[in-house]
Amino acid sequence: MASSSSPSVLLFLLLFTIAATAKTSESLSTVFPRAIPGSALKQVPNAKKPEPKFPFKTQYFPQLLDHFTFTPKSSTIFYQKYLINAQYWSHGAPIFVYTGNEGDINWFASNTGFLLDIAPSFRAMLVFIEHRFYGESMPFGKESYKSPETLGFLNSQQALADFAVLIRSLKQNLSSEGSPVVVFGGSYGGMLAAWFRLKYPHVAIGALASSAPILQFDDITPWSSFYDAVSQDFKDASLNCYEVIKGSWAELEAMSAKEGGLAEVSRTFRTCKDIKSVYSAQDWLWSAFVYTAMVNYPTKANFMMPLPAYPVEEMCKIIDRFPHGATNVSRAFAAASLYYNYSGTEKCFDLENATDAHGLHGWDWQACTEMVMPLTCSNESMFPPSPFEYKEFSDQCMRKYGVMPRPHWITTEFGGSRIEQVLKRSASNIIFSNGMQDPWSRGSVLKNISASIVALVTKKGAHHVDFRFATKEDPDWLIEQRRQEVEIIQKWIQDYNADLKQ
Ligand SMILES: *[C@@H]1O[C@H](CO)[C@@H](O)[C@H](O)[C@H]1NC(C)=O
Ligand SMILES: *[C@@H]1O[C@H](CO)[C@@H](O)[C@H](O)[C@H]1NC(C)=O
Ligand SMILES: *[C@@H]1O[C@H](CO)[C@@H](O)[C@H](O)[C@H]1NC(C)=O
Ligand SMILES: *[C@@H]1O[C@H](CO)[C@@H](O)[C@H](O)[C@H]1NC(C)=O
Ligand SMILES: *[C@@H]1O[C@H](CO)[C@@H](O)[C@H](O)[C@H]1NC(C)=O
Ligand SMILES: *[C@@H]1O[C@H](CO)[C@@H](O)[C@H](O)[C@H]1NC(C)=O
Repeated sequence: MASSSSPSVLLFLLLFTIAATAKTSESLSTVFPRAIPGSALKQVPNAKKPEPKFPFKTQYFPQLLDHFTFTPKSSTIFYQKYLINAQYWSHGAPIFVYTGNEGDINWFASNTGFLLDIAPSFRAMLVFIEHRFYGESMPFGKESYKSPETLGFLNSQQALADFAVLIRSLKQNLSSEGSPVVVFGGSYGGMLAAWFRLKYPHVAIGALASSAPILQFDDITPWSSFYDAVSQDFKDASLNCYEVIKGSWAELEAMSAKEGGLAEVSRTFRTCKDIKSVYSAQDWLWSAFVYTAMVNYPTKANFMMPLPAYPVEEMCKIIDRFPHGATNVSRAFAAASLYYNYSGTEKCFDLENATDAHGLHGWDWQACTEMVMPLTCSNESMFPPSPFEYKEFSDQCMRKYGVMPRPHWITTEFGGSRIEQVLKRSASNIIFSNGMQDPWSRGSVLKNISASIVALVTKKGAHHVDFRFATKEDPDWLIEQRRQEVEIIQKWIQDYNADLKQ
């Protein structure tokens, strides 16, 4: 059952499987809306009403569509959103830039309280730059996702160049070209931060890359490591919990195969409407377990969804509390409900019409072009075993977008193989922070590479937990991880300032 629906796991997202959303060729034949040079200049998006307590000013920067060609169309302008907080900053002081990832920048800013926490002591300016093709930063407005002709401008190299151009412009406008810039990013944003330091060392003096799986490409990291890590989180919480979830998939399939089975599955899953395919129920469970492992934070939090502290343990308590003889499916459903209904406000579950609240769907395109991260489920994982079939994957991408993935491009452009030997001689000033609860940690840098390329790893941390606002309940290991980060960044800035004086 897995192979026909093998969820295309996205960095955050499992909202859409490639197969489920595969479009017919009709959407590909759309004529490219020709951008007349300067046409995008006509309207600057209206700044949204300021949200209370959101300590950033919203700005829009006229950004170049294509940094890498000099074709006439390349100099088309679009408006790239960025957020800025200068309340602690003074001339010459550091500028901390968050390299935005695959969603609304306000969402990332709201979940990166760490930068607001540390800004005063550094007197740092904070700048959160939105990634092109996400949030409001749409190069072709509502047409941005219309065809591969427009989406072709969505890739990581263009995004990095956007950041560099914007940072240079900002410093020039501030007449503060000497201000040291440090880049920060989490998840895909962390990959961008690390790569930015490698590609633009003259623009950023260092990078803090949190939960950045830059080694999840090609065959650098075992393909099964992601789902094995999710499974390990659940196994660590309770062996029974792991076994119940592992046993639920076949049971679910058997349930749906019976006469009137889908209706029964729909009842069990309290769906708003009867589901059309059992895969919807499977994906719904699957997403709940994967995301909960990712955000297995030590304090209650609301990143993807509101959740209690250590939600994996809470899920497993729900599973373990069931009376003897209860089905695996009913237990798995109850556990997943913690993820979807911790607020207690859901009347029913909409399994086949998930909303994309944070504007993340552009990742599908990125996953189908350059961000090819093969993931498999081993026999030992709690998910149905599934291989990664490149042919099947690329066929889906071809059907959906009319383009073929380039699975080796990222490692060609940014490297990855033998990263320790390469970076120890060619790079400096990068922190790779990770928490081992986060399944993406396995594809990140977990070893110190040199005196200034450092891995800060915690056993109980989850997906970029260090970037969250400090809370009174924070455990010591998290306080210590953040303290080390601050100390290292201070050193980078001191070294930079010492060089400036020479
Ligand atoms: C710098 O100033 C120019 C001219 O006013 C403006 O167009 C640009 O958006 C500014 N740069 C940034 C990063 O705000
Ligand atoms: C639940 O799954 C396990 C396998 O992990 C299986 O041994 C067990 O019989 C299942 N329980 C029920 C009630 O079907
Ligand atoms: C969500 O939780 C509330 C409170 O526990 C409960 O009354 C409601 O039935 C739950 N919704 C679903 C769809 O299970
Ligand atoms: C999906 O949800 C939207 C609102 O969230 C609603 O307008 C639409 O009718 C729903 N579609 C289906 C097929 O249920
Ligand atoms: C997983 O189990 C199946 C069936 O038991 C077996 O054929 C296959 O070789 C196993 N795969 C691995 C990677 O061990
Ligand atoms: C890397 O070095 C730092 C000290 O600079 C140390 O605290 C940290 O534990 C080391 N990381 C690993 C993974 O060994």
